[in-house]
Parts: sequence; C-alpha cells; structure tokens
Amino acid sequence: MADTQEIVSVLTESRVFPPPAEFSQRAHIRSMQDYQRLWDEAEKDPQKYWGDRAREELFWKEPFQTVLDWKPPHARWFVEGKTNLAYNCLDRHLPKLKDKPAILFEGEPGDRRAITYGELSQQVNRLANGLKSLGVKKGDRVGIYLPMVPEAAVAMLACARLGAVHSVVFGGFSAEALQERMKDAGVKVLLTADGGWRKGAVVPLMKNVEAALTHATGIEKVVVLTRTGDGKLPEGPKFLAWDALVKGQPDTCEPEWVESEHPLFILYTSGSTGKPKGVLHTTAGYAMNASLTTRWVFDLREDDVYWCTADVGWVTGHSYVVYGPLMNGVTTVLYEGAPTQPGPDRFWDIIERYKVSILYTAPTAIRAFMRLGDGPVKQHDLSSLRLLGSVGEPINPEAWMWYRDVIGGGRCPVVDTWWQTETGSIMISPLPGATPTKPGSATFPLPGIHAEILDRDGKRVPRGQGGLLFVTKPWPSMLRSVYGDPERYANTYFSELPGMYFTGDGARTDADGYVWLMGRVDDVVNVAGHRLGTAEVESALVAHAKVAEAAVVGRPDDLKGTALVAFVTLKQGNAPSDALKKELAAHVAKEIGAIARPDEIRFAEGLPKTRSGKIMRRLLRDVAAGNHSTQDTTTLEDLNVLAALRQNDE
Ligand code: WTA
Repeated sequence: MADTQEIVSVLTESRVFPPPAEFSQRAHIRSMQDYQRLWDEAEKDPQKYWGDRAREELFWKEPFQTVLDWKPPHARWFVEGKTNLAYNCLDRHLPKLKDKPAILFEGEPGDRRAITYGELSQQVNRLANGLKSLGVKKGDRVGIYLPMVPEAAVAMLACARLGAVHSVVFGGFSAEALQERMKDAGVKVLLTADGGWRKGAVVPLMKNVEAALTHATGIEKVVVLTRTGDGKLPEGPKFLAWDALVKGQPDTCEPEWVESEHPLFILYTSGSTGKPKGVLHTTAGYAMNASLTTRWVFDLREDDVYWCTADVGWVTGHSYVVYGPLMNGVTTVLYEGAPTQPGPDRFWDIIERYKVSILYTAPTAIRAFMRLGDGPVKQHDLSSLRLLGSVGEPINPEAWMWYRDVIGGGRCPVVDTWWQTETGSIMISPLPGATPTKPGSATFPLPGIHAEILDRDGKRVPRGQGGLLFVTKPWPSMLRSVYGDPERYANTYFSELPGMYFTGDGARTDADGYVWLMGRVDDVVNVAGHRLGTAEVESALVAHAKVAEAAVVGRPDDLKGTALVAFVTLKQGNAPSDALKKELAAHVAKEIGAIARPDEIRFAEGLPKTRSGKIMRRLLRDVAAGNHSTQDTTTLEDLNVLAALRQNDE
C-alpha cells in the first residue's frame, strides 16, 4: 500500500457552479442550510435520524425497535423489523402506478419494450413461483448471468420476493470467472440466457455456462432465457427454458417477510489479493439507503425518466438501475448494448426518444464521447435532460466541463458520486439543489455519513493535504461480511484503524472542505470504470504454462482512466515474442474476461524486489508510466533489474 506522503495532489480547480435557482426551488434539498440541518440532525442523534429515515423509506410488515446494534466490525440495523424488498419496489406502488412504465427497455438491435409496474409485478411473481417449483426457498443462493434485459431485473426481484439471495455475475466475465463465483456462493439455480447483444455480435453466455459446468459448481438447474437464438436448449436434465418455467404460473406470490438482516445479495468484487470477494449485503439497511440516496442525489420527481447506464452485473446496476429507482416509483431506462452501436449517437438517440431527464454514467464513457466530438450530440434534442451524474472513478475536470456544457447544455447540475460495492449506496456527492459544485470534486459526504480523511494514526489530515479515506461510523447499507470469510471482512476493511471502515481510496479536502478523490492506494485499479485487482490478473498470467512471474500495475490512460501493464518473466526455454504477448493477453481474457486483458505486456528478465522478496510495484508503476522514479530504492535487491526494465522501454 502507498504511503500517505505519496498522495500529492496536482489539481487546482477554482471554478464553482452554484445550483441553478429554478432547480433549487423545486428540489428536495434546496440549500446548504437544508443540508447542514440534516447533517446536524444526524450528528445529534444518529439512532433517531436513521430510524426515522427507515420508517419513511420502507414498508414494514413488522416494526423494528433497535435501530443499530454495533459490535465492531459487525453491524445489525433495524433489528427486529421485517420487510420484503420486492414488495417495496412493486406492490406498494400498484394502487397508484399500475399503468406507469417501470422499465423502458431498448435492446441493442433496436427492439423496444415498455413494462408497467403492473406487468413487472406479474412477471416477478410468475418467476418467483417458477423458482419455488424448482425448490428455491428463503436463504438459497441463485446465480444471475444475463444480458441487460428486463428479465435481469425480474430475476433479482423474484429472488428478493422469495428471500433467496442473488448473485449477479457480469455478462462480460468468462466461464472460469463464472464458475469460481458460483461455487463460492453455493449457487443452486442459475438464471441465464442463450446470449446477449454487444457491438452487433452475440455474447455467448450459454456457451460460457456450459464450459463453467464442466467443473464442480453445485448448480442443480439452469434456466435459459431466449434472447439471441432459436430457443434450443443444451442437452441434459439440468437445463430448462425460462418460458416453460414461468408458463402457467400464477401471477401472484405471497412475499416472504424477511428479517432486516436477512441476506439480499452477494456481489463479487476485486480486492488486493487474487481471489474476488463476495460482498454481502442484507435487506433493510441496504434498501433504505438505496432508496433515499436515489431520491436525494438525483432529486427524483414523479415524472422523471431516469437512465443509469450501468450493467446490472455491477453494484451501480443493483442500487441505481433496479432497486433505488423502483423503490421510488420512477420510470427507469434499460439499454442492452454498447454506447456507440450502431453509431456514435446511440446514447443521444435514446435520450431524445425517451425524453430522459436524468442521466447517470461513467467518466470513461464521457471521455470516449468527448473524443468523438460534439457532432453526434448535436444531432439530437437533449433538452429533456435536467440532471447529470457520474460514478466509478475520478472524473477529470475537462470531462466534467464537457459533460456539463455539451451534454447538459450548461443548464444541468452535475453530481459526481463517490461510493463502492461495499458501501451499497452513494456516500459522497453533491445534492444538486443545494451544493455548489466544482469540476472533479465529489464535494461533501451525505448527511449521516462520516467519511473522513485520516492519516495512518487516525488523525484527521489538515485541509489541502492527502490522506486515507475512512468511514468512521457504521451506516445502514454497509456490507455485512465477505461471504463465507468473516476474517477477510475484518482484515480487509477494519484492521487499518480498529472499528473504522477503510475504503482503500486516497483523498484530500481543499481549502473549502470539498472532498477530492485521488484513486486507490492498494492494488486495485479502475479500468474503464471496472474495478480490477491487479493480483487477479497476475494470478491468471502465472497460471499460463510459459510464465514464471508476473506483476501487473496501472498506468494513467486518457480514455480508460487506467490501463493495465503486465511485466512478465518467462520460464526457461521460452523466448519473448509478439505472438506470445497475444497468447498471454488472450489467456487473461479467457480466465477473467475481456475487461481484464492487459493493454501492454512487457517481458523482463527479472522483476524489482525488496530484500524480503516483495515485488516493488511502485517502481513498476513509474516504469510503466515512463517516469523516472524519484522513489526510494534503498530496499531494492538488484538495481540492475530496474535499469534493464527501463532500457527495454527506450
Ligand atoms: C472508485 C462503484 C472517484 C473508487 C460504485 C472506489 C470513484 C471504487 C468514484 C469502487 C468517484 C467510484 N470518484 N473515484 N465518483 N466512484 N470510485 O466497487 O476508487 O466498482 O473505491 O463501485 O471506484 O468501485 P466499485
């Protein structure tokens, strides 16, 4: 991990954009005084503050008495209460919103479907009944490996309805990655599709599932949705068609009223060791924060058409495509495919057609659009937009300004939202009717969220100086554990400073107290908004027969934020070649997925190591970025290695 001294900021940004007056007038939170009042309320009596929010946000079948039971690092929220998340997303809206579109779906090939709250509820109940007929019950794990189609949301909600625990695996992950996750989660039933559309081609999901099933997974049944093919199923008693499963099932299904702390989902994410972590979220605290932050941060109104472009395979898809918007009864847009398919204006076409009012996307997409120039944007009427959001990695001020001026026509507030798979919901973000924004800053923590920048001794760092970002008090949507590995939970998140959640990010505040995120301080990188552990890529490389050792580091990249550079030493008898580079890149894509494919592979005779044998990644980061290291090399075992790596560069 990097030292805090290394976190030196080079950004000086002085532009400030106050919220437009018309926006503030109609907003849920209208001024910094409003924000401060909420903040003080939460500070004065956190139990009352969160208890009130939970009662307002959720339908409770049985009320809770205890707001928080905190035995660090274990939290239980709203302890005695019982609720059901599918009920909160659907049933409670039906009297008023039965005929309102819940999901506006657009497939990549151009097929479209509008699904009302009434229809969505029926589909969820039918699938829930279908899953019941397969023996799925409360607490069972269900895998979801689907393209971005409405059935992905239906699947998640059907699990929630039954109290089954879903584990969604991003459709871009490989067979190996899928198998590892399904096995770790102990998945009983897997919901998948024959394929999905991406960049005009079929993503062969079913083929990956079949390959995954050649190894032990514990999966008993695979339910297959027809999306791209002719509906033919693979041979064998394990496989059954989605249509056949739901056909004839009743469209009502009594929700399973679960305890607040009943597990809702497991979502795998990268950490600084090779094995992905199954981040475990439970029901009520997660649901409450997801609902509240969606309304506050996106300032939702009844007539909004809201579009979050994330895939359901990531946490953003969980909280801000499915659960947050549906709990708030808004219309949410779901798009299956690539942003520039068939042309560079696909996003803007969608916004114009559906009159999208809120767009929530990632800096990597914004930078890619910026590169394409203003032309494709100008072909469309984007006047329906009133708010823009960004998530997943730091957004550079230039991209922020382009987003605001070109996409938002200079009139829409931009909310740069910081959070993580582990936090479950947005933690640091402007409130668009209240917070004056600065391009590139996530501004301030939301009320009740104690995000603080500390040094290694737990002391708050002075303004202007970098430090480590902690959350010093528990919050309702925090992760509860690493699935099956409570020790890893405690060690990864609560060992830096006892009892305080360590985010793995570096940050600083400026003279006005604004928070600026400065990237990861561990071996996790953000490639095109996707979170990857460099150790995962390394272990994939080392699994190749010709590789002796590998070190993977991030290098700043204009488009992707970070690009992956792999330093590889070969086993004796193997010679470096371009063909081998290709072979290794393809090997990583097969082991993990195309998102982890290294952008550059460099062969080396040796890797720089400390005397105790640890690879000195910070040196490699410098070499990868082409910087001449000013770093301390006194512990380096063999300076010749470093010289040789640099020479290869020249
Ligand atoms: C980074 C995605 C700067 C950060 C929701 C964090 C950000 C990691 C921002 C979590 C932001 C996310 N500004 N950095 N607005 N949002 N990050 O788990 O490094 O996929 O720790 O969750 O993304 O990624 P994850």
